[in-house]
Amino acid sequence: MDWGMQNRLARLIKPNGRTMFLPIDHGYFQGPTRKLEKPGQTIEPLIQYADGLFVTRGVLRSCIDPANSPPVILRVSGGSSVIGKDLAHETLTTSIQEAVRLNVAAVGMSIFIGSEYEFDSLQNLGKLVDECENNGIPVMAVTAVGKELAKRDARYLSLSCRIAAEFGAKVVKTYWCEDFDRVTNGCPVPIVMAGGPKCETEKEVFEFVHDGIQKGAIGVNLGRNVWQAEHPAPTMKALRAIIHDDASVNDAQEIFNEEKNK
Ligand code: 5RP
Repeated sequence: MDWGMQNRLARLIKPNGRTMFLPIDHGYFQGPTRKLEKPGQTIEPLIQYADGLFVTRGVLRSCIDPANSPPVILRVSGGSSVIGKDLAHETLTTSIQEAVRLNVAAVGMSIFIGSEYEFDSLQNLGKLVDECENNGIPVMAVTAVGKELAKRDARYLSLSCRIAAEFGAKVVKTYWCEDFDRVTNGCPVPIVMAGGPKCETEKEVFEFVHDGIQKGAIGVNLGRNVWQAEHPAPTMKALRAIIHDDASVNDAQEIFNEEKNK
């Protein structure tokens, strides 16, 4: 692997091999999602705990201080909205020249395995990987399911993650699921977990993140379960302990309780 590619990956994945990404890209198809109406304000108390920020160029330029930003994973796919015909119908929306200009550590795009637009999204991934390899930029593939949340089982996610890796993604973002080791075992590149819609309690989040890390994920790309939580910063600190210090679920809960009572 060339120096530039290695350097960018090292900016995102810490020396212990783990990472905690903070995604705030949801507006690209959901608009002003709850608690992300003003992304700059939402992440102001959280940015210090993020190892990477997953964001579109629009929010990056308008809401993030270039002098105080974690490494950026630039969201470069889109083209459909929650009220449109099909969330899976995406194209590449942002050029590699922009990624270079914005000095990003990686770019990210969604693939939609099993959807009507499976072929298009995989063609986009292949093109993006070609261009990014030429520029030393890692690609994070997002195994997206659109509105079909029930798809998120080990059989489907292991298929999607493996295909993403085969196409050249350097990191794959997928959902946690039961039997998560089936997903990690079949994927030759690092996996980070997304959260999906907000869980009922913070403990549920600690439990699935802990399970996923034990089963081989290198970290998370967790959005709504962090910034829609009642106590986002304590949630992030507790999750960091699971990811970076191998804390147990109980340890994480203790950290959370202490932090929220400060
Ligand atoms: C949205 C995304 C998000 O980055 C990803 O889903 C993580 O966010 P959450 O934990 O809220 O699901 O790719 O398209």
